[in-house]
Amino acid sequence: MTHATPFARPVRIMAGDYQDLAGASVVVLACGLGQKPGETRLELLQRNRSVLEKVVPQITRNAPDTILVIASNPVDVLTQMVTQVSAFPPGRVIGSGTILDTARFRTLLAENLNISTHSVHSYVLGEHGDSEVLVWSSASVGGVPLEAFASQIGCALTQELKGQIDDGVRRAAYRIIEGKGSTYYGIASGISRIVSAIRTNERAVLTVSSSLPETTEFAGLCFSLPRIVAAGGIVATLKPELSSEEQIDLRKSAEVLRRAAQAIGNL
Ligand SMILES: NC(=O)c1ccc[n+]([C@@H]2O[C@H](COP(=O)([O-])OP(=O)(O)OC[C@H]3O[C@@H](n4cnc5c(N)ncnc54)[C@H](O)[C@@H]3O)[C@@H](O)[C@H]2O)c1
Repeated sequence: MTHATPFARPVRIMAGDYQDLAGASVVVLACGLGQKPGETRLELLQRNRSVLEKVVPQITRNAPDTILVIASNPVDVLTQMVTQVSAFPPGRVIGSGTILDTARFRTLLAENLNISTHSVHSYVLGEHGDSEVLVWSSASVGGVPLEAFASQIGCALTQELKGQIDDGVRRAAYRIIEGKGSTYYGIASGISRIVSAIRTNERAVLTVSSSLPETTEFAGLCFSLPRIVAAGGIVATLKPELSSEEQIDLRKSAEVLRRAAQAIGNL
């Protein structure tokens, strides 16, 4: 990576210890283990929770004003746990959540509609995992609703094709892990996107995970919604327009996360 820096933006890459985090404006947590064959998500959660319980206090001691960005899985429940352990305001604890799933959704739509990924606007919300919700109802291309765009260009957006795209997004991680052991390029780009939005005070809308306020029915739970990311971290959460079916699916996804959090005594 160091040798590649002349081809990229100037950056210094170094190894260090927790003391070197002093003054860091962002700390990315990607520590922990991936799922072992045959291991349940709950077992993985318990293992990675104990890793983060050791790591987080060392970070907050050395960089008390930092913003924490979490990639470790299962990212939503761990984001909730890190919010509690760090005692940081929720806006300063950001889970990568569905940033990658949203990118996968946009990519697969773009491929099938033969259009640039940058011109497709669509979001994946809820858990980063099996219960995630692909929001078809508000997907659009160049301001034209998805179905209308597809019919304008003569593409049949059939239930079968939608099912294939859904499967391609929802099961991407399983396929990649089966094929090459773990995922890294997509998530690294997603994390880099989040950090760049913080560094440049961009106020970018990204689907990231964060603790929901006490005033909502999902108080304390972490899952992805479109959120405005800027210099201070998450500065606002949007209320997405969803079809009634998508609303039900989002609630189911939240319940999956509630049960996981309760199973490790986090709620
Ligand atoms: N959110 C996402 O979309 C996404 C995508 C890919 C991977 N992940 C998750 O990221 C995590 C890391 O995956 P990976 O493929 O980079 O794994 P990896 O095994 O390559 O890296 C894990 C790192 O954690 C470190 N570590 C383990 N225990 C530690 C401790 N107690 N203190 C400090 N460091 C410790 C290890 O030394 C290692 O460097 C996993 O939980 C994985 O599931 C998330």
